[in-house]
Amino acid sequence: AQDVVVGLLGLGTVGSGVIQIINDHQRELQHQVGRPVKIGKVLVRDKTKPRDIAINEDQLTEDAAEILNDPNIDVVIEVMGGVQEAREYILEALGNKKHVVTANKDLMALYGSELLKVAADNSCDLFFEASVAGGIPIIRGLTEGLSSDRITEMMGIVNGTTNYILTKMDQEGRDYDEVLKEAQALGFAESDPTSDVEGLDAARKMAILGTLGFSTDIALEDVIVRGITTVTTEDMEYCRQLGYTLKLIGLAKRKEGRVEVTVQPMLLPDSHPLAAVNDEYNAVYVYGEAIGETMFYGPGAGSLPTATAIVSDLVAVIKNYVLGVNGHSIPTPLFEKQLKSDEEVEAKY
Ligand code: NAP
Ligand code: HSE
Repeated sequence: AQDVVVGLLGLGTVGSGVIQIINDHQRELQHQVGRPVKIGKVLVRDKTKPRDIAINEDQLTEDAAEILNDPNIDVVIEVMGGVQEAREYILEALGNKKHVVTANKDLMALYGSELLKVAADNSCDLFFEASVAGGIPIIRGLTEGLSSDRITEMMGIVNGTTNYILTKMDQEGRDYDEVLKEAQALGFAESDPTSDVEGLDAARKMAILGTLGFSTDIALEDVIVRGITTVTTEDMEYCRQLGYTLKLIGLAKRKEGRVEVTVQPMLLPDSHPLAAVNDEYNAVYVYGEAIGETMFYGPGAGSLPTATAIVSDLVAVIKNYVLGVNGHSIPTPLFEKQLKSDEEVEAKY
């Protein structure tokens, strides 16, 4: 069978994990999609930078057009981050009928609706499982696993960096700055970690989850955000003495017919299941009218966990084109509804 050729935009923490999984799990991938999956070209900012990952030098390029305009490339995986350039490249890829997988929550929270529409117009898939909670399949969980339910509330820890920092401050009494540096070195933090520690990264993820979970369109500015920059080890110690654990919690709930989304540090009783979610791990509690409550738990950041979500999206894209159903990915109509209240939803149906 013909090879599936992937173009990779970015070869940092996540991009390197994608190459490793495609190489190491080739047998499993071929078993699922019936074709060899190959990396074609890889976009980087600096070709001369030393890299840990085994990649041929001639596969690296600093010119995105070599990927976006290459007719041999079937799928583009965007793991470079940032917003405007990433948006431009994804639009160009879709315009050239290439399917896209992205881990970019900054982009999806701002332009998800536009990009999904362009993908559908071009009969292409645009999948973004890795954009929320790293390796946890929460987007599929909401849009497929719980699609028959009416979700009423989601509560979770959706940022690995801040959870890592709070865990180490709490359990090891270490300083905020020192642990933040460690989280950066481990590849959990964003290139500018301000968005992690000020709660913006979690806000982007909660906007995506709220949009998908409540079939509405939550803009980033709708999310009320507070980060963890003012938390001290003394605060953590004090909370512990009182039997509480401090966590950065994202909350999205239906309230009086409308949806409310917040991200803020909260005190959880030590007995609460989210109080036991440590290090870079994430967890999302989902409450549905029919299911009651269910919790998704797993590694929320890091190279291989995040890359697992991406390569699983890649498998879904390939299966769709084997079946000839690309461009019908479930989230698209959800993003288009633009309905804010229960009344608007009722009126529409
Ligand atoms: P990273 O380690 O900083 O890697 C970024 C890569 O993209 C680098 O290889 C860089 O090239 C390349 N790049 C960046 N801007 C570029 C540009 N303008 N032109 C060409 N190449 C460019 O970032 P990362 O941690 O892998 O994260 C990538 C994306 O995944 C982000 O959207 C992030 O939010 C998302 N994400 C990350 C994680 C995680 O745990 N790290 C988890 C989920 C989602 P050079 O190598 O030459 O510098
Ligand atoms: N910086 C993000 C985090 C990466 O720490 O959760 C995963 O999205």
